[in-house]
Amino acid sequence: MNLREYLTQQQRLVDDELDRLVPPESTPPETIHRAMRYSLFAGGKRIRPVLCIEAARTIAGECSGILAAACSLELIHTYSLIHDDLPALDNDDYRRGKLTNHKVFGDAMAILAGDSLLTLAFQVLAQLDAPDYCKTRLIAELALASGTVGGMIGGQVADLQGEGKPPDAQLLETIHRAKTGALLRASLRMGANLAGASETQYEALSLYGEHVGLAFQIVDDILDIEQSSEALGKTAGKDAAQHKITFPAVYGLEASRRMAQQESERAHALLGPFGDRALRLHELADLIVHRKS
Ligand code: IPE
Ligand code: IPE
Ligand code: MG
Ligand code: MG
Ligand code: MG
Repeated sequence: MNLREYLTQQQRLVDDELDRLVPPESTPPETIHRAMRYSLFAGGKRIRPVLCIEAARTIAGECSGILAAACSLELIHTYSLIHDDLPALDNDDYRRGKLTNHKVFGDAMAILAGDSLLTLAFQVLAQLDAPDYCKTRLIAELALASGTVGGMIGGQVADLQGEGKPPDAQLLETIHRAKTGALLRASLRMGANLAGASETQYEALSLYGEHVGLAFQIVDDILDIEQSSEALGKTAGKDAAQHKITFPAVYGLEASRRMAQQESERAHALLGPFGDRALRLHELADLIVHRKS
């Protein structure tokens, strides 16, 4: 199976599992379930769940509960996007090729849709078909990666407070590692944990996640400049308009491309000990750098 077929297959599995986990639109209060599903099924790349599933597969082949655990990452990610797009944050009108959640459902319902995806993510982990000690670790990993200290929210705070400030290399790296890198790294760590990775295997996958996580946000910054809104499914050129601290703003486009490539190479190097089992993780590290949306 080539990479494209594999991704389509994985995305379908993730979508089916998400559909099972999120209450139907007909369940009262209907509006919130419609709002949750609107953003969740708008066509995300599902890169975090795929990385989680693949980390587990690299360690142990198939393992119980992995799809639901992978979906908890997508629930958090989609919540972070709904809130990121709010007028009080990035104020975006388009996401995943559709109007943003608040444009359709209003600010109040968009805030609550984000809140409910966040809450559901932890419910899913608590109800996972896995031993309690393992669930506790997954819950802690996801909470840390989403949280204020080096996690997604901490990164979002620094990103917002950095708007209009002079480009600063150290602040830039802190923002990117936190707002995007932490959840990507958690994707690998959670898959590794659930599959019963040894300490060494966990460390290698965690570092791989750190490198692809940083590469992912560098490329997001580059695409914001180079791609059209149609290709991205979100408004291009927003970072410059909002004076965000980004890799291209600090280093320029050429150097940013090289740095993303370098992060990807570091990620590849960490997969050596896994041999052929890590084939898909190698492909995903390349995809993250070469993607066009
Ligand atoms: C966009 O994430 C926001 C960032 C954290 C860079 P993705 O590029 O993974 O967005 P979707 O899930 O495919 O829409
Ligand atoms: C978003 O970063 C990171 C999140 C935690 C959602 P961006 O603000 O760069 O993401 P896009 O470009 O709007 O997708
Ligand atoms: Mg933002
Ligand atoms: Mg944004
Ligand atoms: Mg961006």
